[in-house]
Amino acid sequence: MGYINLALRMAREAGELIREYVDGEFTVEEKSSKVDLVTEVDQKSENFIRNRIHEYYPDHKIVGEEGVAGGDDLNVIAESDDYIWIIDPIDGTTNFVHGLPGYTVSIALSYKKEVILGVIYDPTLDEMFWAEKGKGSFLNSKRMTVSEKDHMEGCVLATGYPSDVEGDRAKVIENIHALGPVCSNIRTFGSAALHLAYTASGRMEGFWEHGLNVWDVAAGYLIVKEAGGAATAITGEAYSLTTRGIVASNGNIHENLIESINEN
Ligand code: IPD
Ligand code: CA
Repeated sequence: MGYINLALRMAREAGELIREYVDGEFTVEEKSSKVDLVTEVDQKSENFIRNRIHEYYPDHKIVGEEGVAGGDDLNVIAESDDYIWIIDPIDGTTNFVHGLPGYTVSIALSYKKEVILGVIYDPTLDEMFWAEKGKGSFLNSKRMTVSEKDHMEGCVLATGYPSDVEGDRAKVIENIHALGPVCSNIRTFGSAALHLAYTASGRMEGFWEHGLNVWDVAAGYLIVKEAGGAATAITGEAYSLTTRGIVASNGNIHENLIESINEN
């Protein structure tokens, strides 16, 4: 099976697996803090995706959120030029634990440190956002492009509240002080991948967040770029697989957004 078809199939099947647990019982544990959660469903979803990749491409490397939490080496991301599958088995675990919608499966494939495909699946709405490098972005089977708005006062933005409460979350709250009064509104749906997908689809104009991880962002980065948008580090530097703070937008408001975020 080709890479993109495999990625689409894995994301959909992992999404179906996750949905089976939504109203049922599952264990929940804390990772780095009380607000950084993991469930047995995150682990099941990641194992399912890993097994599928091994079946088709046993030589490819895999970096998954739960594998890294269990001690896998994250440095391959910066060091290896091989094919690397980058997995967030549930992005938006807090939503999933609370029975809220807005959690996704996010899968990217990188080669020579460049993201070459990305898929983000929202099982609640059965929406698949996906892109291959150089081939455009799609929502299910329909091509999508970013919005054309160019005045901040008409723009809807999104951000997230990172689990590092004193550091990254405090920075986000400061940024909201700067951006809140000048944009149309700010949303926090609870999944960075979903925020990137919505920016790519033109439903929103921009997204930023500090302290994210490669599995939250890699797929969404490519989907935004292929939809005609911009995605960079919060500093404005080019995105790389080691970028932690990200700004993504329709392109028109990108500089303005970066300026406001770096104001304080
Ligand atoms: C989280 C989500 C959330 C963001 C957090 C992430 P997780 O990922 O993307 O929107 O605000 O910073 O950690 O833990 O649910 O995979
Ligand atoms: Ca996750």
